[in-house]
Amino acid sequence: MTDLSALPDDFLWGAATAAYQIEGAVAEDGRSPSIWDTFSHTPGAVAGGDTGDTACDHYHRWPEDLGLMAGLGLDAYRFSIAWPRIVPDGGGAVNAKGLAFYDKLTDALLNAGITPFATLYHWDLPQAQQDRGGWPERETAERFAEYTAVVAGALGDRITHWGTLNEPLCSAWIGHLEGKMAPGLTDLTAAVRASYHLHLGHGLAVQALRSAVPGAQIGIVNNLSTIEPASDSEADRLAARRADGHVNRWWLDPIHGRGYPEDMVQLYGVDLPVRDGDLEAIAAPLDWLGLNYYFRQIVADDPGAAVPYTRQLPGPNPQHTAMPWEVHAPGIGQLLLRLTEEYGARKLYVTESGAAFQDTVAADGSVHDPERTDYLEQHLAACADAVRKGAPLAGYFAWSLLDNFEWAYGYDKRFGLVHVDYETQRRTVKTSGRRYAELIAEHRAR
Ligand code: IFM
Repeated sequence: MTDLSALPDDFLWGAATAAYQIEGAVAEDGRSPSIWDTFSHTPGAVAGGDTGDTACDHYHRWPEDLGLMAGLGLDAYRFSIAWPRIVPDGGGAVNAKGLAFYDKLTDALLNAGITPFATLYHWDLPQAQQDRGGWPERETAERFAEYTAVVAGALGDRITHWGTLNEPLCSAWIGHLEGKMAPGLTDLTAAVRASYHLHLGHGLAVQALRSAVPGAQIGIVNNLSTIEPASDSEADRLAARRADGHVNRWWLDPIHGRGYPEDMVQLYGVDLPVRDGDLEAIAAPLDWLGLNYYFRQIVADDPGAAVPYTRQLPGPNPQHTAMPWEVHAPGIGQLLLRLTEEYGARKLYVTESGAAFQDTVAADGSVHDPERTDYLEQHLAACADAVRKGAPLAGYFAWSLLDNFEWAYGYDKRFGLVHVDYETQRRTVKTSGRRYAELIAEHRAR
């Protein structure tokens, strides 16, 4: 029995997706290429040479996907809006057909009683904007705020819940420092500048949302990890502190008005392009914080490694996902409590939590995924425990509604509650999806 009794009565049960991972239709209705189109078409960048060209074909099959959400009993759906559909050149002319897609989706969600949670940026920067310098340049933050104003003007009469950025850490560190995601750079200066302009873009987007959408509930979504030193040695303890700066504090301190952590500014040694008023804009008050949690990090000192000069050791729990990430449910609760106690969070959502496993389709077409089901229950139980200890958790979004394009890993890594057969686009609710629906129904009936 999973004890979820501590979750509040009005707890929101949701599932999440992202535009490039599910929509497909990359050249339809005026959408321009994004940095992920460029990256995924670069030989060797993505496993199996996979691209998001078709993905789950959600752009055409969204009514069926909405039916799946309703069947699971979801209260809320977190999806992202593709900037290259709305303002194909990054700035300037607005593409009405792109807006029309999200307009239809929003109306249909509301008709089905499902609350839309719109994310404005889930990594698909218009390539044209990248060609003008991308996130390392201030102009991108300004264009992002303009695009936000367009979307808010069109959908703000119906969408109340807005997230600015999804996982800016991935955009900045994985995309500009590690080179494993679009735009595929390995340049510390570009990465630090990108992180700063992502934050600035977030702050300016909050201003745009506040003026266009009275009563908007605005947040930002960070992927955070608990960090543990690999040993008691001073070197490993300092390494854990650096990793915490790189993964957690760099992303939390500025949005809480604490500026950038000085130890990390020193470590990176890159001048931040701060102008008057920026830090205040970055720290604009928010209504909620989103936590995406996947794994903890056990960290050793490694002076030969890239910034922050650490090495991650495999976790001791024998349960690992297909990524392969260690399964460690207590981490989600620890992070919810850290956001509450150290950062004073007043409203939290788990905006993503989920796992990839090697699913198999049985002869009768069913998909039985006991490991994912167990993962879901363990993480929900850890969330309920954190609520018992004081975390103001208001909802949980499973990652993901559907199997989808898992970025540089391609289609091989399946995170869905719903299996997608990419040959036929047939959707099949997995055992985990059915269990999620049961937990939702039990919570609602209590
Ligand atoms: O698929 C991603 C998602 O786009 C962002 N958060 C992590 C997920 C799993 O890797």
